[in-house]
Amino acid sequence: MNLKEMVKLADDMVFAKTGKHLNDLQEKILRGTWQHEDYNEIAKDVNLSEARVREVGMELWQSLSQELGEKVSKSNFRSAMERLQISIFSKNFAPQQDCVQISCVNNYCGEAKNLTNTPNSTQSKEQTSNSKQTKTSHQDLSEMQELGDFFDRTHELQTLTTWILQQHCRLITLTGISGIGKTTLAVQLVKQIKDEFEYAVWCNIDASHTLDEFQHKLIQFFSQSEKLDSSPTNPKRLPLIKYLQNHRCLVVLDDIHNLFCSGELAGKYKPEYEEYRSLFKQIEKLSHQSCFLLIGWEQPREVTQFKNPNTPIRTLQLKGLDIAAGREILRDYGLEESDNSEALIHRYQGNPLWLKSVGNLIQELGIGVTELLLDDTILLPEDLKDVLQQQFDRTSELEKQVMSLLATENQPVNLANLLQNGQISSSDLLNALQSLSRRCLIEKEGSFYTLSLVLKQYIKTRRSHLTNIDNE
Ligand SMILES: Nc1ncnc2c1ncn2[C@@H]1O[C@H](COP(=O)(O)OP(=O)(O)O)[C@@H](O)[C@H]1O
Ligand SMILES: [Mg+2]
Repeated sequence: MNLKEMVKLADDMVFAKTGKHLNDLQEKILRGTWQHEDYNEIAKDVNLSEARVREVGMELWQSLSQELGEKVSKSNFRSAMERLQISIFSKNFAPQQDCVQISCVNNYCGEAKNLTNTPNSTQSKEQTSNSKQTKTSHQDLSEMQELGDFFDRTHELQTLTTWILQQHCRLITLTGISGIGKTTLAVQLVKQIKDEFEYAVWCNIDASHTLDEFQHKLIQFFSQSEKLDSSPTNPKRLPLIKYLQNHRCLVVLDDIHNLFCSGELAGKYKPEYEEYRSLFKQIEKLSHQSCFLLIGWEQPREVTQFKNPNTPIRTLQLKGLDIAAGREILRDYGLEESDNSEALIHRYQGNPLWLKSVGNLIQELGIGVTELLLDDTILLPEDLKDVLQQQFDRTSELEKQVMSLLATENQPVNLANLLQNGQISSSDLLNALQSLSRRCLIEKEGSFYTLSLVLKQYIKTRRSHLTNIDNE
């Protein structure tokens, strides 16, 4: 989105909300914000006091928040607008088109208004549903969590939307370390694209979801909805794949790591869930018009990490939030203005859950970020340790050994050095490295491997805890 498109889109929104177009000052604030200027710089530009500019800015963010149905502020304005653009793109996207222009922003008033929750949007919702009369959408999103604040992730949403709507990928895995924001991203994605599907369903894989139960649940959902559509016949239950072939369905499975064994290299099915392998294989290999999105700490072993454009499978490994979004997370703890907030966000890798945990502790202790960052000690609140432990406990002995080795190193270590260590055979070592990198527990730079500071600290803390227990 360029500057002009942004102003046009924002103007449409403000006009829809207030019946007035943007005035000069409002437009200057939007332009300045888009170009990462702070209030002070914008104020100098327009020859007004910073306080006045801030005040007008706040009113503007409020109007935009109401229109967009999410909290918009100076720091997330740009990503919120970019997300809106993707949304408009996915809503305007006609599957039969081979090539789609992303800049559909001028259609805001007609199409994208159904994103908002304001009374003003009622008329546009009707317009939108009228224009989408060709298919009925059935949704069971009762297991999908509600979306709270949402920052950043424009690029990821764009990628996933393209894979699903444009490239018709059939099986997508979304992986990443605990708390990085996988579920949240998927919720936002589903909200944006669900109307493109005849069926959309979200299932959390908990400990008791055998394939039979899962298929039964899905088939029931599909066939019940069919009954509603085509009474009075008595529809015969078909195998799951038939529904996926006959209809365009979006199926999201969250927490799929629950399908896999603990204490083994990543992605090995538990014996009772082994049958999921053939389901996923069918979804990949057979021709159909549906998409499965699998979310979790681990992905099935047979799903490769590398994108092959000739296959309908994709993997997205989610990384941390950007600095602006990290600051937004810290805002809840009054830490966003701190001089060192950027260093704090880097140290906790933009992981929103980790940042919330640390923000909470800092706030409770009443200390400052600067004090916290004075030495190299990494603060690990207890709830953060619990989260890390859950993932650490799932790793195999071999992986724990490799992590322990890496935890003692100050610099990234290359493969040759790890092999020289001699404790682990080369094939075991390679398998362990592959598994750890799939779990996002190690970082890879070329042929060098390293652990994040947080994980290093966790492993050291754990080791000293175990030593203390042994000495007792
Ligand atoms: N893009 C985001 N913007 C704001 N908060 C986020 C974002 N992504 C995640 N969070 C917050 O971080 C925490 C962890 O997110 P979650 O999606 O549950 O992570 P995961 O599924 O990867 O374990 C939640 O409290 C969530 O609200
Ligand atoms: Mg999750």
